[in-house]
Amino acid sequence: MPAATSHADWTAFDAAAARDADARIVDQFAADPARLERMSVEAAGLYLDLSKQSWTTSAFEACLELARTAGVEAARDRLFGGEAINSTEGRAVLHPALRARIGSDYKALGEPVSAEVDDVRRAMADYANAVRSGSESGATGRPFTAIVHVGIGGSDLGPRVVWDALRPLQPAIDLRFVANIDPRDMAEALTGLDPETTLVIVVSKTFTTQETLANAEVAKAWLAAALPETGRERHFIGVTAAPERAQAFGCGRTFAFRDWVGGRYSLWSAVSLSCVIALGPEVFEALLAGAAEMDDHFVAAPLDRNAPVLLALAQVWNVDGLNRPARTVAPYAHALRRLPAFLQQLEMESNGKRVFRDGSPVTRQTCPVVFGEPGTNGQHAFFQQIHQGPQVVPAEFVIVAKTHEDAPESPLWSNALAQGQALMLGKSTEEARAELLASGAEAVEADRLATHKTFPGNRPSTAIVMDRLTPRTLGALLALYEHKTFVEGVIWDINSFDQWGVELGKVLAKAILKDVDAGGPSAALDPSTAGLLTRLLG
Ligand code: F6P
Repeated sequence: MPAATSHADWTAFDAAAARDADARIVDQFAADPARLERMSVEAAGLYLDLSKQSWTTSAFEACLELARTAGVEAARDRLFGGEAINSTEGRAVLHPALRARIGSDYKALGEPVSAEVDDVRRAMADYANAVRSGSESGATGRPFTAIVHVGIGGSDLGPRVVWDALRPLQPAIDLRFVANIDPRDMAEALTGLDPETTLVIVVSKTFTTQETLANAEVAKAWLAAALPETGRERHFIGVTAAPERAQAFGCGRTFAFRDWVGGRYSLWSAVSLSCVIALGPEVFEALLAGAAEMDDHFVAAPLDRNAPVLLALAQVWNVDGLNRPARTVAPYAHALRRLPAFLQQLEMESNGKRVFRDGSPVTRQTCPVVFGEPGTNGQHAFFQQIHQGPQVVPAEFVIVAKTHEDAPESPLWSNALAQGQALMLGKSTEEARAELLASGAEAVEADRLATHKTFPGNRPSTAIVMDRLTPRTLGALLALYEHKTFVEGVIWDINSFDQWGVELGKVLAKAILKDVDAGGPSAALDPSTAGLLTRLLG
């Protein structure tokens, strides 16, 4: 039975878009002296400045009205209340329960879950402490000094962001990640590791994912070739929502989570076990606490002061109001270099949908293409297009004030500020021409080059600022993006928590492997795919 649908009222939003499409951002500061205050917000240690977005004050109000008519507040209550908001799979979506304070009382579809969550958290901490102290050791009695984390998609990207963001420069435990079914990935990860001191953690919600199982087999064989049978299972740990499958696969111990944890929302669960071990349980607890602080903000703040809501509205305004179907994210912190990849899955797997919750085709644009690179690297690559290409691509700068104890970071963040300024202000042809003349160019040369050196400006950006990149602020940042993604899904009236779009390719890959085993393409294959298969078989 299709879920009831509740489309938002887009009337005021569309009228604002038609009216304000050409408004100049820079003029809005004079038009509304309270603009910066109105369009910036503090939440859980983060500061968001949305005043360089392309909305006028009345468009901003129309966006808030859209959120109200879409029922964002009621939907938020349903999420936190553990209702079956993942309507195509009949599941609750309760990642906030994973990071709630110990002793909380969350329920998924009416069933209490917090006691079990707390138990897993304690078990992870005990196990992590045992590995870190050496009391939990390998088959030959030597302590573990390396972890190979095997998983893909949501079972990989979150823990990778966390590790890259928080890892010490010289960690006591060498944590490596393997996701790709390309054997090169595993080969790189295992290079230089000693099976006697290596822990393999296989992470898969379903424990059926082709890539992860294939890689897990390789890792298992690598351990088996070097270790005695007795105690070998201590090197092979599973993290899953299907513990019986992990046990059948040979995992010596499993840490579980429930099906109400979506893969791309799972980093708060045992999915991050490898980080809990390598960073320490107290670091993980601080990460959870930062996310919980963002949960509190999301639940309590009114819509017009609500960071995830405002971030979502800026995106909806760009995509649906101004027809800008892409967004670039540039973290100005090397430690956050994986953030764009994490957001690609979070946002595009959640909201890359073509039907409303009731199954009828969407009538608006949904998720934009999300891409990015850390700053300043991106500036020397695709930012040319962001500044001068004919399509407008909104930018999001994630800025860390203090990244190092002993080196100045202003050269890094000053670039982020400059990019936002350049995008908004641009440079007119007259200015470009005058600069050329001032630098000694002949008038003919100045005329010839001026348009090449013109920047249209009026290009929107958002700044998200944190003082330091700590476990707490990282937790808050990732939770901010999760809730932003949820709010967009509510406004678009789509199910943000299923991912049927990844299934067809998996099925066809299996069929192609059957053809490979049969030695050539089946008659059912289209000519192009058959030709490629024949060529690849050599
Ligand atoms: O194929 C996409 C996907 O289903 C993601 O949603 C998920 O995070 C990933 O695969 C890995 O799934 P699993 O954790 O079950 O191995």
